[in-house]
Parts: sequence; C-alpha cells; structure tokens
Amino acid sequence: MDIQKVGVIGAGQMGNGIAHVLALAGYDILLNDISQDALDKGKTLIAKNLERQVSRDKISAADMDAALDRISTTLKLPDLGATDLVIEAATERETVKTAIFEDLQPHLQSHTILTSNTSSISITRLASRTDRPEKFMGFHFMNPVPVMQLVELIRGIATDEETFKSCLAVVEKLGKTAATAEDFPAFIVNRILMPMINEAIYTLYEGVGSVRSIDTSMKLGANHPMGPLELADFIGLDTCLAIMNVLHDGLADTKYRPCPLLTKYVEAGWLGRKTDRGFYDYRGDEPVPTR
Ligand code: CAA
Repeated sequence: MDIQKVGVIGAGQMGNGIAHVLALAGYDILLNDISQDALDKGKTLIAKNLERQVSRDKISAADMDAALDRISTTLKLPDLGATDLVIEAATERETVKTAIFEDLQPHLQSHTILTSNTSSISITRLASRTDRPEKFMGFHFMNPVPVMQLVELIRGIATDEETFKSCLAVVEKLGKTAATAEDFPAFIVNRILMPMINEAIYTLYEGVGSVRSIDTSMKLGANHPMGPLELADFIGLDTCLAIMNVLHDGLADTKYRPCPLLTKYVEAGWLGRKTDRGFYDYRGDEPVPTR
C-alpha cells in the first residue's frame, strides 16, 4: 500500500521525534495531542532539532522548511481518520492506548494501518481491542528518534503480510534499519537493555558502586555511549519501571524483578531528565549524582 499521510498520536519525547523523521522523509504528518501546549512544545522541539541537523550540515535549510511545512497539528483525534498510517506514541499505559484506539477507529478509512510505538505492551492484546487486528502492528522507534538507526517491527498474531510490508517500506524510506521481533514482552531491545539497566540500579542499591563509578565503568569498560544510570534518566525512570513490570508479569521469572530503588525514585517523582531529577540532578550547569 502506498502510504502518504501519517497520523502521529502524542507530541512528547517519542511522538515529536517520529513526526520529525517522517516529515523529513516526505510524508504529510498530522500530529495529535490532548493539549495545545503539548502540540506547541512538540513543534518547537522539532524545529530546534531540525535546526541542529542544519547546523551540522546533515540536512539543508530548504529540507528543514519543507519538513516543517508538512507537519500539521490537531487536537481532534477524528481528524486522523484521513490518514493511511497511524503511529500511536501516547503515554506507556495500556488503558490510555486502548481508549485512544477505541475513540479513533469509527473515523478510520478501511485501508488505514494502525500501529503503536509501545516499548513493551502486547501488540496482539492491543490489536484484539480494535476493529482491524490484521492491519495492526508494533512500530517501535528508539530515542532520540532522529539519531537512532533502528526501528523494531512487531507483528501481532493476526498481522497480515501486506501490513508488515507497508510498514517495512516506511522504515526503508526513512533510511533506517528494521529488526523484526516476535510479540513477547518487551520485544528485543528492551528485553535485553532493561534488565541491564535494572542490574545497574541493583549495583547502586547494594553499594557495589556509586552512580559515577557505575556509569564510568560501562562507558569506558564496555564502550556504551551513555552509562546505564544516565541512560535510565534519559529514557525516563517511570518508563523503565513500566517495562520491568511488563517483563516480570509477562514472563513470571524473578530475574526480572524491578529494583526497589527504581520504584523509590519513581514514587518520589524523580523520573530523570524530564523532571530534572533522577539518578542525576539536572537543575544546575552540570548533572550531579543524587546518591
Ligand atoms: N535530534 C537531532 N539530532 C540529535 C538529537 C535530536 N533529538 N539528539 C542528538 N542529536 C545529534 C547531535 O546533533 C549530534 O550530531 P553530530 O553527530 O552530527 O554531531 C549527535 O546526535 C550526537 O549528539 P551530541 O553530540 O549532542 O551528544 P552525544 O555524542 O553524547 O550523543 C546520544 C547523544 C546520541 C543520545 C548518545 O549519547 C547515545 O547514543 N546514547 C544512547 C541512546 C540510546 O541508547 N537510546 C536508546 C534508548 S532505548 C529506547 O529508546 C527504547 C525504549 O523503548 C526505551
């Protein structure tokens, strides 16, 4: 199927990155969120990140202007009915995602493909709550979307081959690389990455190392671009905890139990960069460890 118009639900961290790369690749984007403020912030961030690419000669100023022109915004979910592909990138809560799909589906054209950028929730279960399980799949981008090369494509049990091929063609048009994952808890990237981050938090919790020594060890000892605690703050500690819970509940293995220290940070509302505090405090000029 020839996809031209894409609806993106959620203008936050992931949604604005997804709208950014799709617009740059030539798709017409309709970006939706529940508040005008969220849409304005999302669009401002897209402009800032595009400018950053212009200043590093990755794209031209004309590419930036054309991409920005291709992005329209709307507060009305039914407006997305006119698109060929919908990528849902709302909050990582199943009830929120299900409610969005329920509200949206009466307005969709019959050919529209529905996808979710969920990092861990069952695609088959989300699909089963829609009117089109065969045209539903997981479309999982990595953060920061404009920089990260990978997109995970996850088929639900009912996803048909045409839907998969259409989504794969979008990934290829973006110049990104797809990895196909089966629909099991947290798919591939988070199945491997999150237990590593959770183990880093246990390493801190048990006093084996400090925040700095743990991050330095993995940066310089394993050549990771960010230490695991810095990366946890970057992803969002609430998201990390949600994914560990999906692994723990879905695979029923104690090796996935979330570290109590991760739970404590989330309960404190110290969710990482987005709240200015997590394993580091970002309120000053330089990040300072909080333990
Ligand atoms: N938009 C556009 N460009 C961006 C950008 C953005 N949002 N963020 C960074 N960049 C660009 C910079 O302009 C820079 O470009 P050049 O190479 O042309 O100079 C490049 O990316 C590197 O950025 P910086 O120099 O600012 O900083 P850095 O070298 O420290 O790299 C980083 C930043 C790319 C984020 C790097 O630290 C990194 O790769 N970290 C790991 C990220 C990661 O693991 N992401 C996956 C998280 S897991 C996930 O997303 C799945 C999930 O479901 C939770």
